Amino acid sequence: MVQKQAFQQSSSPSPNSATESAARNSTPASARRFTWRRLLYTGVTAAAMRNPSRYVKRAIIACPVRLARFVQPPVGGVFSGTGGLFRPERGRGRARPAPHHLAPTPRAILAKAAANRLITQMFSYSQDDLYCEQVALADLVHGAGTPAYVYSSQAILANYRAYDEAFGDLPHSVCYAVKANSSLAVLGLLAKAGAGFDIVSGGELFRVLQVGGDPSKVVFSGVGKTADEVEYALASGIHNFNCESESELALIDALAGRRGVKAGFSIRVNPDVDASTHPYISTGLSQHKFGIAMPQALAVYDRARALKNLSAEGVSCHIGSQILDPAPILEAVEKLLALVAALRAEGRPIRHLDLGGGLGIRYRDSEKAPAIREFIESLRARLRESGLCVMVEPGRSIVGPAGVLLTRVLYRKKNGPKEFVVVDAAMNDLIRPSLYHAHHEIVPVRRNSLPPVTADVVGPICETGDFLARGRQMANVMPGDFLAVCAAGAYGFVLSSNYNSRPRAAEVLVEGAAYRVIRRRETFEDLVRGETV
Ligand SMILES: Cc1ncc(COP(=O)(O)O)c(C=O)c1O
Repeated sequence: MVQKQAFQQSSSPSPNSATESAARNSTPASARRFTWRRLLYTGVTAAAMRNPSRYVKRAIIACPVRLARFVQPPVGGVFSGTGGLFRPERGRGRARPAPHHLAPTPRAILAKAAANRLITQMFSYSQDDLYCEQVALADLVHGAGTPAYVYSSQAILANYRAYDEAFGDLPHSVCYAVKANSSLAVLGLLAKAGAGFDIVSGGELFRVLQVGGDPSKVVFSGVGKTADEVEYALASGIHNFNCESESELALIDALAGRRGVKAGFSIRVNPDVDASTHPYISTGLSQHKFGIAMPQALAVYDRARALKNLSAEGVSCHIGSQILDPAPILEAVEKLLALVAALRAEGRPIRHLDLGGGLGIRYRDSEKAPAIREFIESLRARLRESGLCVMVEPGRSIVGPAGVLLTRVLYRKKNGPKEFVVVDAAMNDLIRPSLYHAHHEIVPVRRNSLPPVTADVVGPICETGDFLARGRQMANVMPGDFLAVCAAGAYGFVLSSNYNSRPRAAEVLVEGAAYRVIRRRETFEDLVRGETV
């Protein structure tokens, strides 16, 4: 009964529309009296309705932000644009000290995340509030607005170190794949931790250099490097080019010759191995555009001897992303080691082996991600006997589980039997569900005890393909509630766009009990910057 009432309430036009919001903002706080309607609107639970005084007490203790929502509009916020994006005026800030006594310790976070089977690292519930490290996301959302990507710095560093430490004393280089998440603050964290970088464009190199990344730890991958990009990379003194065609080798040779330098290169070999992942992110089969086919590789290395400004330093491959079964990587490694042996037999001092991207991550409860340490340990003996320096280019497994996308529920609606939860994040913010039918767990920023619902979570974009989840059993949330789309730290913001003239989301980095906005939300002015009428 209570649930039904709550739903009817939510399916009426949202008070978060621009006009109503403006009206609310102009109403004196004293006039916005406490009403049961308002309490219902905030998504109060059935249990709380039976014992309201207990609820109010608990709300005051546990969630001042939530309580504030039904006596006043969100702090200094404005609702703008057709997407109804919530843009609080307090765009930057630190976690408010109030709820810190409730904040979980890092150990508790990990234990709780395991118990809750929450997929995202360093995010866990404490007293029904979702925290990232020691920051309550309900607090953060009122400082940073939605949609917003939130990253845990501790999780990013822990994932980088998992690779670095697993190699131990084996000569190695962990080159973070910038494409997964290229935000300066994320790159800065990793550069400070000593990471190298795998780049696929001049723009990514610029970003790495901006944060003080060491160019001598940069490898340049990609099937279509332009002359300008090669020039820039040579001028910056990067470590190595992973080359994908003979014409590319010729171009790098010519440009290196003009500069009077010798450029290190590897050939990205296409080992014709099935990575058993989504077809759009599988790259190691002969039908794919990537690399040079294994049977031709030896001959290409031979012909490259004539290019005097190049030095063959290594062999590389990348068979695909989101690989949950490492067996195909192991198969590729064997093929690569055989190639290295053949090259060495011809007197070429091949020094490194680049295994490409990292392991897959767990996007759903039912998935099990391979452990980084075990995977590298399974390779260790083979790699040690080769005497090669081993390079890896992980992206997803470093930042993916370390981030969530926060979004606000705008409306609930029903079309016949079908339920929709309309949120303020859309396919322009996170395209993975629309593009790959990728699954992301979606959890409430504040839990309630209403029975779950089955609904599509959709955004405001004018496309049927604009969804974050379909037919998902999820928390029974109401307009004004916030949701976290889990494991969204990789291939999230970087793939976002301005489709439907939607400003791109803010990004926030959490560091212990503090957070900072590392990319401000775009404005309408940003949307038209650089354009002329
Ligand atoms: C050449 C190369 N290296 C590294 C990566 C990163 O892969 P992942 O994010 O799965 O670790 C990719 C991603 O597709 C890639 O194309």
